Amino acid sequence: MELPRLVILISGSGSNLQAILDAIEDGTISAVPCLVVSNRKKAYGLVRAEQAGVPTAYFPFKPYRDEGKSREEYDADLAMLLWPYHPDLIVLAGWMHILSAAFLNHFPHKVINLHPALPGQFAGTHAIQRAYEAYQRGEVDHTGCMVHFTVPEVDAGPVIAQAEVPILPTDSLADLEARMHQMEHRLLVTAVRDVLAQH
Ligand code: GRF
Repeated sequence: MELPRLVILISGSGSNLQAILDAIEDGTISAVPCLVVSNRKKAYGLVRAEQAGVPTAYFPFKPYRDEGKSREEYDADLAMLLWPYHPDLIVLAGWMHILSAAFLNHFPHKVINLHPALPGQFAGTHAIQRAYEAYQRGEVDHTGCMVHFTVPEVDAGPVIAQAEVPILPTDSLADLEARMHQMEHRLLVTAVRDVLAQH
């Protein structure tokens, strides 16, 4: 039986990508990583993919913006870049670009996103810092992370898995970020494995 095909989209260091690659290596996830795409040239995640022998692509939005083209045109072309790889699952692992229906409509129920906050909380960027500041103001006593199916609305969509992350009175922001990333790595691997098990 052919193994499911994974495409992973990143924009940064790629520690969550690494968690997936390590889980494939140790057999926790049964899948083939067939492409890693970054919209940022200097994303260290591209180095991680190359070291693991996974094909990579750099696909920036800037040339589209410079030519006055829309996000939808970029998203549609991104879908065409991925199409030949026949992905069974597309994982947004620190991908910092909101995908529109022009992309998502090509891969129904096949795109999942990781976000460092609980459902309905701190959608968008800097979610860990915003949770930390809300804690300082006494508005929250914990935070968390989630993996969800992607819809055009940012950090929304049916939740696949979520986990609480405690915030301690002695925490610096860096302490909370480290604890969050550890939980994210575990949650994302479990979510990918479970979604693929339903295929
Ligand atoms: C993660 O915290 C993810 O939830 C957020 O961006 C970060 C990416 O980390 N969207 P990395 O590039 O996988 O290390």
